[in-house]
Amino acid sequence: MSEVTMDKIVSLCRRRGFIFQSSEIYGGLNGAYDYGPLGVQLKNNIRDLWWKEMTQLHDNIVGLDASILMHSRVWEASGHVSNFTDPMVDCKQCKSRFRADQIDLNAPCPVCGNRGTFTAPRNFNLMFATHIGADVDAASTIYLRPETAQGIYVDFKNVVSSSRVKVPFGITQVGKSFRNEITTKNFIFRSCEFEQMEMQWFCKPGTDEQWFPYWREQRMNFYVNKLGIHPEHLRWHQHGPDELAFYAKDAYDIQFLFPMGWQELEGVHSRTDYDLTQHQKFSGKDMTYLDPETNEKYIPYVVETSAGLTRNVLMALSDAYDEEQVEEGDVRTVLHFHPLVAPVTVAVLPLVKKDGLAEYASKLEHELRDEFVTFYDQSAAIGRRYRRQDEIGTPYCVTVDYDTLTDNTVTLRFRDSMEQVRVPVSELVATIKKATKEYKRV
Ligand code: GAP
Repeated sequence: MSEVTMDKIVSLCRRRGFIFQSSEIYGGLNGAYDYGPLGVQLKNNIRDLWWKEMTQLHDNIVGLDASILMHSRVWEASGHVSNFTDPMVDCKQCKSRFRADQIDLNAPCPVCGNRGTFTAPRNFNLMFATHIGADVDAASTIYLRPETAQGIYVDFKNVVSSSRVKVPFGITQVGKSFRNEITTKNFIFRSCEFEQMEMQWFCKPGTDEQWFPYWREQRMNFYVNKLGIHPEHLRWHQHGPDELAFYAKDAYDIQFLFPMGWQELEGVHSRTDYDLTQHQKFSGKDMTYLDPETNEKYIPYVVETSAGLTRNVLMALSDAYDEEQVEEGDVRTVLHFHPLVAPVTVAVLPLVKKDGLAEYASKLEHELRDEFVTFYDQSAAIGRRYRRQDEIGTPYCVTVDYDTLTDNTVTLRFRDSMEQVRVPVSELVATIKKATKEYKRV
């Protein structure tokens, strides 16, 4: 085991095409990132596992894809226009901007070193404002959504009346959110444009007390059992009264041990009937639910599970990263992703290019595409090609050699143990699927 630093993760991500700085050729844009060929596949895999977990594998949860642009009244009702702020100070000398709650205001400016140069703290709203239509005035101001949750609340009645859902039920969605974050350090951990995976669980008032611990347990299990994250890298943090968001009755964060320390990965929030009540007040529309069995009418309470997808990507990379001493003086960089998380599942490699091996391997790789995300590589010595796959976390390498041409068997190499076994081509798909099902994190 080696020390995992953010510099090592950033450098690997750039080198191997996981994540790039946005607009790099123009000097980069702070707080915005591009997901390269491997990064987008990794992100999609995490998203798909989450979506399956939260819709297919649970009763009574349906999906939604609400638009990013919403009526500005949504954000007045939700409280974001007046409350979604961070206290900010500027250094009058060097003009750098800081979050007042993250620096010592009596200390010198961390950028220019001057003392006594900070402005008084001012509240700074984190929402990005833009304009819709041709006129640029107050009436045309709208916001890029700072969370996906409000789209779910606003569509609550549409979903109830058009689907056969009954309380308790959940609505889930994945999508981009935007926050004008003042401090965007630590790579993709806190960015201005990011993705969230959220679920709002609507339940009868009073039953939220039971659902809140239920959803906490479900969400922690997901990280350990489905994404294969080390349990010792995960822990709970309950919000104290000074940390609770303006809408929350109670809140717990799942924290992950990132390279810079323990930080929030996902929040599980008890939001009561706050949001639906606010939307009822601001829109004048009835947001109550009529229980078809008991005829009781009420505004449901909400338990929310709110995870950052892009922050999950950083967790997956940090948890998987290792530099291992293979032999004296020989170190391999390896990403121990769960096989269902890894961006490439199977690499197919001919031992050499000549004598029909490349043709055989290429054909095999095409056949495997229906089942797995595959990669074909015929350049460089086989040992180097294995290392290239280790570095991007490919769990299985299949090597075609001279024996393959006569007996239709291949070498299957496992990333974590580096063990190699001989497998008939006809059993390859089943063998890989079985190994994936039985995968245990090292
Ligand atoms: N709907 C509730 C909500 O948005 P939050 O705690 O503000 O709650 C939920 O955000 C999750 O979204 C966080 O746990 C984090 O994973 C992710 N997140 C929030 N702000 C982020 C940012 N600026 N960059 C990346 N991820 C962020």
